[in-house]
Amino acid sequence: RDPEPEPEPEPEPVPARGEKRILCVGLVCLDIITVVPAYPAEDTDTRYRWGRRGRAMGQPRRCSSQGRPGTHAPRPCRCMSQRWQRGGNASNSCTVLALLGAPCAFMGSLAPGHAGDFIAADFQRRGVDVTHVAWQPHGDVPCACCIISAASGSRTIMLYDTNLPDVTARDFERVDLSQYKWIHWEARNAAEQAAMMRRVERHNRVRPAAELVRTSVEVEKPREELLPLMGLAHVVFISKDLARHFGYRSAPEALRGLRGRVQPGATLICAWAEEGADAVGPDGELVHSDAFPPETLVDTLGAGDTFNAAVIFALSAGRSLQDALTFGCQIAGRKCGIQGFDGIV
Ligand code: FRU
Repeated sequence: RDPEPEPEPEPEPVPARGEKRILCVGLVCLDIITVVPAYPAEDTDTRYRWGRRGRAMGQPRRCSSQGRPGTHAPRPCRCMSQRWQRGGNASNSCTVLALLGAPCAFMGSLAPGHAGDFIAADFQRRGVDVTHVAWQPHGDVPCACCIISAASGSRTIMLYDTNLPDVTARDFERVDLSQYKWIHWEARNAAEQAAMMRRVERHNRVRPAAELVRTSVEVEKPREELLPLMGLAHVVFISKDLARHFGYRSAPEALRGLRGRVQPGATLICAWAEEGADAVGPDGELVHSDAFPPETLVDTLGAGDTFNAAVIFALSAGRSLQDALTFGCQIAGRKCGIQGFDGIV
C-alpha cells in the first residue's frame, strides 16, 4: 500500500515585525492551587470559613482543622486562597516567554470541556499562539492538585496525567518550521518526540546558518526511555531530580557524568534550586550562576519552567551562555517571590 501523503504544513499567523517564534511542545494541564499557611497533616480537615455578620465578604472568620477524634492533630490550618491556573512545563514556559516579550506558540493536546476552554482562553489572554494545539476527541485534560505552603514556598503537586493522547510526529509534520527560530520539547512520549527532533535536524541540514531552527529538550523525569532525547537537541536541560536519580550530588557533578549523552557541540544545563545553575557549553566551557532567591519564598510552582524559558529567551536572542544562565536564575528567583507568573518582569 502506498505510504500516506505527508500532511501539508498549515498556514500560520506571522507575528508582528516578522519576528520568528519560539515553539514549546509538551504538557498543558489544569493546576488547581490551594495556598495554605503551612503544609497540612494527613487526614485533617482544612477549612476556609467566611464571616456572616459585621465582616466584609471574603474575610476569613476563623479556621479549624480537625484530626481524627482521639488523636492530637497539629494546630489548625486554613486555606489562604484557591485558584485555577494553566499549568504543565511547556505551557508554563510559554507563559514566561510571552511575559518576556517573545512571540511564542504552544503545541500539545487538549480536550473539549470546561478545563480545555479555561486553558485555551488563558493561552489567548497571554498571546500564546495555539494553532498547533491538538484537540483530541477522546480523553480528559490532565489536572493537578497543587498545595503551596506559604511558610516555605514549597509546592506539592499531585498530577493526574490522564488518558489524553500526546501530540505525534505526524501532528508535528504540519508545523511550518520556517516560522520558528527555536523549538523546545518537554520530554514525554520519547519515540514520537525523537522523530519530531529528527525532522528539524533534516530541515536544518539544507539551511544557511541564519535560518537554522535551534532545539532544546528538558528531561525532568528520571524515566529510562526519555534519556535518548538528550542526544538529539542543541540545548539540554536536566533536572535536579534526574541528576539525583543517577546518584549525583551537585550540578557540576551531574554535568561531568552526563555530558557524554549529549551530541558534540551541544549545551547541557542543570539547575539546582538554591545552589543556582551550572552548564557546560559547546566548547566544553563550564559556567555557573548563583541563585537569586527572593526575600521570602512565596510560590515555587513552575520555577524550573521559568528558568528554562528565560534561558531559551536569552540564548535565542544571541546572548552568551553565562548571560543566559544568570538571566534564567534571576527570573526564576523573581518568580519564587510571587504567586503565579504576573510580575516576573
Ligand atoms: C510545574 C508543573 C505544573 C504541573 C506539573 C506537571 O512545573 O508544570 O504546572 O502541575 O508541573 O508535572
